[in-house]
Amino acid sequence: MLPLFVCPSPLLLPSPSKLKEAIVVVIDILRATTSICACLHNGAMGIIPLETVAEALLFKRQEYLIAGERNGYKIEGFDFGNSPSEFSPERVKGKKIAMATTNGTRAIRKAQKAHQVIAGAFSNFSMLCNYLRNQNRPLYLLCAGWQNEVALEDMFFAGALCHALVDAFSLEQDAAHIARQIYLNESEKQNLLLKASHLKRLHNFQKQNDIQLCFAKDIYPTLPYLNKQGEIISLLV
Ligand code: MLT
Repeated sequence: MLPLFVCPSPLLLPSPSKLKEAIVVVIDILRATTSICACLHNGAMGIIPLETVAEALLFKRQEYLIAGERNGYKIEGFDFGNSPSEFSPERVKGKKIAMATTNGTRAIRKAQKAHQVIAGAFSNFSMLCNYLRNQNRPLYLLCAGWQNEVALEDMFFAGALCHALVDAFSLEQDAAHIARQIYLNESEKQNLLLKASHLKRLHNFQKQNDIQLCFAKDIYPTLPYLNKQGEIISLLV
């Protein structure tokens, strides 16, 4: 069986040479990859993942809508923050978006030398699993985390993927077994996830609706992947 690796932090992503034949699934449950799924599912033409606010403001001049946050707060002058519910069909259908988030879009850019980079979230869980099991490629699950620290919700999702794909991939390292164990402790899911620092941060920002959307399974069934032009679009499968 092909190997499946979990990178709990972008700091642990292997060198580009090791990724060139692999698929990297970028995970940022709260909220970047959930928002990316919402955006594309609701009809956006594409999303440019960016590292800095300055880059995004340059895209604004090129008629892009710009989205993003810093430390969870919407950025002054941006069209969107990073709540999945903001990316409604009325606002994004047919539009091109440039997105700069604290961790998620940076993780996507860091993985860009992989054979393929896909955004994963609970929103596209089933579609993602069905796709990954048929690609016959090594798999890296890259948790965006928070400022290079491990995020519990990202590891929980990585564990859910490990568990769902355990018959199709060989879990190659301790991080994959740890992630799967975190998920298998699902009986304490509520308590477990209430410990997540970013979940508490968003809760304090009154983003309860975001949290609900970010843990809702298969609500935005699409496969966002980074194309050769550096744009995230929906993979037609
Ligand atoms: C991130 O990039 O870490 C998240 O998107 C942060 C957020 O949306 O609050």
